[in-house]
Amino acid sequence: MNKYLVIGNPIDHSLSPKLHNYWIKKNNLNAIYEKKFAEEKDLKKLCDDVREGKIEGFNVTVPFKEKIIKHLDNYTDTANAIRAVNTVYRKYVDGEYIVMGDNTDVYGFEQSCPLRNYSKRGASALIIGAGGASKAIILGLCNLNVRHFAITNRTRENAKNLMTQITKPESYKGHFVYEWCKDEGIMSKPDIIVNCTSLGLKEEDKIPLDFSKYKKKFFTKKVIFYDLIYNPEETNFLINAKKIGQQAINGKMMFLYQAQKSFFIWHGIKPEIDQETISVLND
Ligand code: ATR
Repeated sequence: MNKYLVIGNPIDHSLSPKLHNYWIKKNNLNAIYEKKFAEEKDLKKLCDDVREGKIEGFNVTVPFKEKIIKHLDNYTDTANAIRAVNTVYRKYVDGEYIVMGDNTDVYGFEQSCPLRNYSKRGASALIIGAGGASKAIILGLCNLNVRHFAITNRTRENAKNLMTQITKPESYKGHFVYEWCKDEGIMSKPDIIVNCTSLGLKEEDKIPLDFSKYKKKFFTKKVIFYDLIYNPEETNFLINAKKIGQQAINGKMMFLYQAQKSFFIWHGIKPEIDQETISVLND
């Protein structure tokens, strides 16, 4: 039986096994997907196990998406552009097996983001947070024609460093790093605001930005408020977006699409994302 894993620390909360095992069963595959608590010292052995065929591949979650890279033989352009990997797999190249890394979070975000249906060129985005997740979102937004970025992060230095770690595509025009939740970020008139921080995981968490006072000035058109968090389903950030009549989207579809691409990489099958699949995550 082919074995797949999701590794992280913590890992208990991960819904990936539920989803992948559902698709494995639906497609009659002889495989199993498990979660595994890992420490940094385990990463090399896990990659060796993929190379040797003891496991077929694994997903990588916090805090190893960057740390895994040095144990891989190669990685895709997407993973290289943001120096972060969430999917590891084996590939046969020039007579030998190598361990590859890809980042399907970028695809997951692009597929789930309403900007992909906009014809507007040169949109702008406000990014809240500057951790690993922000990098995938910024690259995804570049691919969706966003040209200008405003970034705000509790630790301003981290935001500045982050932008040096991303290989930006040619379409990218520039960014500005704002002080944590100062209003200037809103004044950049973003078409989309993405919460990439972990603020919102606890129901009482609040991002200290008051959007309501700008309702008349900056939120006359529909602005997309996108929160990567999907549990809880509606963070305060999204509740406040709805209060001022804006479009609110949580991270559930991104999660499903990134998993869909990982599944395709491993099994060569693009599993369906239908209502039943979505409800698997709710059970
Ligand atoms: P991930 O890989 O999921 O992005 P991460 O790299 O740990 O996780 O990043 C977490 C992000 O949430 C960072 O932007 C972090 O801000 P700092 O760079 O200042 O640490 C942000 N974050 C976490 N807790 C926060 C809090 N209580 N208030 C504001 N920002 C917070």
